[in-house]
Amino acid sequence: MLGSAIALTALAAYSLATPLTSPVDSMNLFKRISSGCSTSGSASCHNTTKQTDLCCFESPGGLLLQTQFWDTNPTTGPSNSWTIHGLWPDNCDGTFSENCDSSRDYTNIAGLLTAQGASSTLSFMQEFWVDINGQNEQFWEHEWSTHGTCYSTLERSCLPSGSATGAEAVAFFNTVVALFKTLPTYTFLANAGITPSSSATYTLSQITSAIKSATGFTPALDCDGSAINQISYYFNLKGSLIDGSFVAIDAPKKGSCASTGLKYPLKSGSPTSTTTSGGSSPTGGSGSLPSKGTIHASTTGGLLTAGTWSTQTLATYTFSGTSSSFTMSTSKGNCGVSSGQLTCGSGVSSSTFSAVSSGGNLLLAFGGSTSFTSDGTPSGTVQQTVFTGTSHSADYNLLIVSS
Ligand SMILES: *[C@@H]1O[C@H](CO)[C@@H](O)[C@H](O)[C@H]1NC(C)=O
Repeated sequence: MLGSAIALTALAAYSLATPLTSPVDSMNLFKRISSGCSTSGSASCHNTTKQTDLCCFESPGGLLLQTQFWDTNPTTGPSNSWTIHGLWPDNCDGTFSENCDSSRDYTNIAGLLTAQGASSTLSFMQEFWVDINGQNEQFWEHEWSTHGTCYSTLERSCLPSGSATGAEAVAFFNTVVALFKTLPTYTFLANAGITPSSSATYTLSQITSAIKSATGFTPALDCDGSAINQISYYFNLKGSLIDGSFVAIDAPKKGSCASTGLKYPLKSGSPTSTTTSGGSSPTGGSGSLPSKGTIHASTTGGLLTAGTWSTQTLATYTFSGTSSSFTMSTSKGNCGVSSGQLTCGSGVSSSTFSAVSSGGNLLLAFGGSTSFTSDGTPSGTVQQTVFTGTSHSADYNLLIVSS
């Protein structure tokens, strides 16, 4: 049993005027562990001095790959979604370690998730983190023992005292599922007119450009013969894998696909009734996207009609789509990201955003990253431009609050 003192301390930093958590959310929070780590330091692989607290700084495996399968022979998962392979901690130079701590090769992952308040993560995994031979439990155990045990920020000694056995593995699965929900590859491609087909062929650049226009970053694509079979989205991490923030980056190398003649084969079977994340957020409903709301910064203030950051009265945003993939607009017009800058206005072409459920709050994400930055903090009538990612000095998360 975990103490309430360890319930997502990160939320304390949000200091919003209105409380965002309902009693149901608090119960979920109660069961989740918190790292207590800040997410405002260097991203993994980007430190300029030696980091000493490896519970709060992922090292040496600071290059994270969220890998997804498109399996058609046999088909795994819904016909309108890619499925989760894993989240791997490569070293910053692309080499990697595996099987880092056999004393934590947990069995009965499903049981751990159920016992530790993560049954909605488990049900999502049963649909979207599926083994090609139907051996889901073995697949999850393999992903944990091979890759999960290599995260420095998931060492047992990093956990709050009194944490249940396996709590760090539960945190791992919760995090992988939450990140996957921000990366709906099927939808990203379909929005660019790239859909499975028994006859069409695509070029590698058509596929990577479609993903890049949805996320802002280039992924790596692996092929099985000429058929696309796996995608890898790359990240660095700020803070702990338990509750840190992902910083999307371009793939440092290409995958195995050729440049032309790529097939995107049809899956047999049926589409999932929801989109990749619709309806099954890890916090049981608190993750669903409202149709209208305001966007608050985690530090102070929030967004105005033009998409700028201010401490003045916040604008109403209209959201359309699902939490895994949506567009948004204000009275000024559509909202989009261009050259890393968020703007809303007439003539702005819409970008696709996603939202990640974190401890009962809904965080805006672009390209899989919930990090936003500006050159300073607004006050009075001074507004700040909002940039995606972490390239400017003041960083914060953006919370979607239903109105
Ligand atoms: C970053 O921190 C890690 C962990 O302490 C260390 O191994 C690495 O050398 C550091 N990198 C730099 C450039 O100081």
